[in-house]
Amino acid sequence: MKAIAVQPGAGIPEIVERPVPEPAPGEALVRIHRVGVDGTDYEVIEGSHGGVPDGDERLVLGHEAVGIVEDANGTALEEGQYVVPTVRRPPADVETNDYFERGEPDMAPEGEYVERGIVGAHGYMAEYITSPADTLVPIPADLAEWGFLVEPISITEKALEHMYATRSAFDWQPESALVLGNGSLGLLTVAMFTTTLDYDRVYCLGQRDRPDPSIDIIERLGATYIDSRETPLSEIPAAYEPMDIVYEATGYAKHAFESVDALAPNGVAALLGVPADWSFEIDGGRLHRELVLHNKAIVGSVNSNRDHFEAAVDTLAALPKEVFETITTGIYGLEAVDHAFPKATTTVPAGHGSTTVPDDDTTIKTAVEFTGI
Ligand code: NAP
Ligand code: BGC
Ligand code: ZN
Repeated sequence: MKAIAVQPGAGIPEIVERPVPEPAPGEALVRIHRVGVDGTDYEVIEGSHGGVPDGDERLVLGHEAVGIVEDANGTALEEGQYVVPTVRRPPADVETNDYFERGEPDMAPEGEYVERGIVGAHGYMAEYITSPADTLVPIPADLAEWGFLVEPISITEKALEHMYATRSAFDWQPESALVLGNGSLGLLTVAMFTTTLDYDRVYCLGQRDRPDPSIDIIERLGATYIDSRETPLSEIPAAYEPMDIVYEATGYAKHAFESVDALAPNGVAALLGVPADWSFEIDGGRLHRELVLHNKAIVGSVNSNRDHFEAAVDTLAALPKEVFETITTGIYGLEAVDHAFPKATTTVPAGHGSTTVPDDDTTIKTAVEFTGI
């Protein structure tokens, strides 16, 4: 079968031949329909995040997948059913650990998990994959074409759960929310904030000139676009308003600290980006004081568990389909796979924010299609 693999840091994704995997007891064989590409894939391709499985030179990419059960292999799944696989698995040398036993692999520290398509385990950009039945989350057939968006939506479901948990000790009714970053994660989150969560006022920070398709999406969703080159994050409270929620999806390390200033009293910021090392000066005393005297919280959030995937399937059903059609700027078969990775040839110096440079400003999110529905 065909798969898409990369030698991290030393190449661009290419098509490789692999044997069709055999499902072990408890696993199902899944025929892959589509796999999405996100900012993390580019970090993996350039070698700044993740890594190959022990003993391998290349990593099969892909962690945002949807497929159809080809062989249920005696599990409770049904053949012909559409499923979305979760990302984390136990490390290769153990069958499980406490985090997986509790259904909370997203809370496992480094070394206690691998991530398919990202670190230590091959991903889903292949014609077929195998996976334990309990890691395959069913999705209705009428949503299957957009099923590759379940994983990124689940990332925001988890971040929201953790943000609300930090504010659960008092009466907190967020009205204003700011999303940092107009990439695919940021835009999906804007859609959730304006639609399913129905926050009164939603803003999204980017660094693009008009006309730009991401700005059109932000405005069509009823949110306000803010250009960080004109209004840096720390000036947003004065120029617009202090925010009850800040959701960082830029990977720009200064945003972690500037978020403190952007928050309203009692607000919470979630950090999602995965920046490279970058040293810069901050006024730690002022930020410390600001967090304490205004009861502000910052929470880091990574990955998501099965509950978040299930919530994401519901969110996918609730969001307007037009959002998916506009965020997904291209779906490519294997014959045109290069087009699925338009940013894979250019990189900016490590440590300066987003690790990718768009070579084509109209690309927001792409996916690879292996087989049609
Ligand atoms: P992406 O497509 O690279 O999006 C990042 C966006 O941020 C880009 O649109 C970029 O704009 C914008 N940006 C970067 N620096 C900015 C600045 N200073 N001011 C304004 N906008 C800025 O990546 P993504 O897939 O949406 O993911 C976003 C981040 O979240 C990445 O770091 C990714 O690794 C991370 N992530 C984390 C998790 C998790 O579990 N924690 C899950 C998924 C993704 P331009 O394109 O115009 O430069
Ligand atoms: C994936 C998460 C993963 C994170 C860190 C994200 O792009 O969506 O599942 O945990 O990267 O590797
Ligand atoms: Zn991702």
